[in-house]
Amino acid sequence: MKKSFIAIIALLCSLAAAARERVCFDSDWKFILGDSAQMASVQYDDAHWRRLDVPHDWAIEGDFYAGNPSGAGGGALPGGIGWYRKVFSLPAGSGKIFLEFDGVYMNSTVFVNGHKVGFRPYGYSSFEYDITPYVHEGENVVAVRVDNSDQPNSRWYSGCGIYRHVWLTKTNPIHIKHWGVYIHDGKVEVDFENPTNQRVKVVNELLDATGKVIARANNVSCLMFNVSWSKLHKWSLQDPYVYKVRTQLIAGGQVVDEVETTTGFRDFKFDAKTGFWLNGKNFKINGVCEHHDFGCLGAALSEDALHRKLVKLKAMGVNAIRCSHNPPAPELLNMCDTMGFIVMDESFDMWRRKKTQNDYARFFDEWHERDLTDLVLRDRNHPSILMWSIGNEVLEQWSSADADTLTLEQANLILNAGHDASTLAKDGELSVQSLLTQHLAEIVKRYDTTRPITAGCNEPSPNNHLFKSGAIDIIGFNYHHENVKDVPKNFPGKPFIFSESVSALQTRGYYMMPSDSIYKAPKQWWLPYTDPSFMCSAYDNMHASWSSTHEQLWDVVKHNAFVGGQFIWTGFDYIGEPTPYGFPARSSYFGLIDLAGFPKDTYYMYQSEWTDKPMLHLFPHWNWFPGQEIDLWAYYNQADEAELFINGQSQGIRRKAEKASKFLDKPSGKAERSRLNSDLCTPYHVAWRVKFAPGEIKVITRKSGDAGKPGKTVCTQTIRTAGAPDHIRLSVDYKGKDLTFITAEVVDKDGNLCPWADNQIHFKGADVVATDNGCQTSMERFTSPTRKAFHGKCLVVVRGSGTLTAQSIDLTQASLDF
Ligand code: GAL
Repeated sequence: MKKSFIAIIALLCSLAAAARERVCFDSDWKFILGDSAQMASVQYDDAHWRRLDVPHDWAIEGDFYAGNPSGAGGGALPGGIGWYRKVFSLPAGSGKIFLEFDGVYMNSTVFVNGHKVGFRPYGYSSFEYDITPYVHEGENVVAVRVDNSDQPNSRWYSGCGIYRHVWLTKTNPIHIKHWGVYIHDGKVEVDFENPTNQRVKVVNELLDATGKVIARANNVSCLMFNVSWSKLHKWSLQDPYVYKVRTQLIAGGQVVDEVETTTGFRDFKFDAKTGFWLNGKNFKINGVCEHHDFGCLGAALSEDALHRKLVKLKAMGVNAIRCSHNPPAPELLNMCDTMGFIVMDESFDMWRRKKTQNDYARFFDEWHERDLTDLVLRDRNHPSILMWSIGNEVLEQWSSADADTLTLEQANLILNAGHDASTLAKDGELSVQSLLTQHLAEIVKRYDTTRPITAGCNEPSPNNHLFKSGAIDIIGFNYHHENVKDVPKNFPGKPFIFSESVSALQTRGYYMMPSDSIYKAPKQWWLPYTDPSFMCSAYDNMHASWSSTHEQLWDVVKHNAFVGGQFIWTGFDYIGEPTPYGFPARSSYFGLIDLAGFPKDTYYMYQSEWTDKPMLHLFPHWNWFPGQEIDLWAYYNQADEAELFINGQSQGIRRKAEKASKFLDKPSGKAERSRLNSDLCTPYHVAWRVKFAPGEIKVITRKSGDAGKPGKTVCTQTIRTAGAPDHIRLSVDYKGKDLTFITAEVVDKDGNLCPWADNQIHFKGADVVATDNGCQTSMERFTSPTRKAFHGKCLVVVRGSGTLTAQSIDLTQASLDF
């Protein structure tokens, strides 16, 4: 008995030893900004290079400079060529060795022991190399050349370097191929390598969230799980339940390879009349578009920064993310699976026609098939992904549209300019552009038939070459809300979403009054927009010429059943594309949350519409000139009315308007500075126009009362006029595993936030990684431990644990343990 027990243990150990090993390969790289062919060689002396761990982004460490070739559109940060080297050891008989990069921006060439093993131009693709032929027992050297010198190549900030994780995988010669497991329709398909010609058995087990095996099947490569659909715990946004499939290869009685794949079961559809459905429930996709950067941390992937982003978006009521406009980090998809977000996974911002001088268009012909295939193979098991997008506003929508002669700023602006009908598809003819659309859709369908295909289109005509191809399953409009009423007529039987919407322009804490005037910036894409403030208005009253206010667009989505939902441009501000300004603006104004992660006011409009928890948000602050006319707005939910008091005096009860007023109805473009003096309330906010008097403002929201009596109070909020800046207040905004995000506020002696304060704050005593304040024109380096407050606050990101101290001239300092 004892003997056989020992034998089983020994067998288990040998089985485990034979299975694959995947280790994180992030630590102990050497890095230099510079270039020489010698840097690939084993003998190269890199002793003087900087030691660092990846993910790493060298551009974020640089200074903002108008002369950087990325331009303000790319964040005005440096590019260049950099090299990474790493020494690693392998024991004898390591089997097959693979090196996997989740993302390197861009033009990466990988060398192992001096041999070139591959080149990948697209900075957002994940890729793996079989390095077995080039490695040996003992010390080996991997060198990676990253070339982001040809700029501009992006319409937003890309980052530079090995900015996502790297993995080293060892397997048996008999092994499951990279991304070789595909779970769909109750089946598992397994693609594996067997150079030995031994008989290989494939075993797949379905594990529930507790790890219990609930189904098992032996088959060479395909099986039908014997679990009925109704018994499966469904994946939903409120209950994002995930299963795992354990796949084993068995040869000669031994488990020679094993991988676990996360999966989930859900039932969804997009309907032409009723919009989106998940597990039998009809609701709106309340999504946001996101670029991949993490503000002051740059493009370097940080799970903490990513999680913080998603937590803030979830609290706003967001239920979907569009990975604009490129393959995301795998970690984003993992988090969306387990936190309950729907994902639109997008491949490209351009096809053959470039939008910027040196962008991916120059590689498209040679690489698109590989990059699109890799995206689908990598991502197709994620339950969160419910649609593929094959492109964003590609210029192939039209017969001719070239960006050759444009600057980057113009390229960003022209995208939504009107194109005349002669550039659209002709009836009865399938153009080259339509054929290309079909070709890309066919690549996706080759590897996944379980999700519909869409594309972000800013040409709403059915004669858009992409629509004309017939290959687009969900009609996706970017903007053009005024054309939405024609969708059922123009696209009969086709479901519809706003693949991109709004593009409102806002700076946190900055308010342009009167608040019921719409400011369009620029008025037309070719006109410059200037304002010496370099700010945009945080009332929902400013947007780009092709877009709308948030309320305007949400009204369209909310009241049209066939509209499946929207993806707002954007959740967070991002580096680059500072429309409507140029340098020194260097980050965007589009976000509902600023670059530092502080919500702007309209964040709360969505919270009031998209979440049920009682909330109230009154703005702006209460520090103005005596007698100044101020518009006070409030977003609230779960209540019927709101009453404002200034220093105890009621300023009247307001109710939200029943229907969208003229203010909302006005098509964008016609309403700029049209003053509506009547009622400032809309279906989405209430407002009062009052005269400033120092002291206290207070709003109370209530349910309707009986017989004219005040009803039950739901929420109250008070704002006091702040006195002179007195001290710094530190508080933890988000605590991650590695990084902690701390807010520093400048407050008066009573603790009221000073909304105009811009004191310079110096952080010390802790490992300060970066600082930010959300101001689009700040020229302070992101890596600096010193940052000015912007509208009273700023952010510092620290690593590990310790005590952070914040100091500023004339203010009492503060310390915080984290
Ligand atoms: C869209 C584009 C986005 C962004 C946005 C700004 O045309 O898809 O990438 O440029 O406009 O409004």
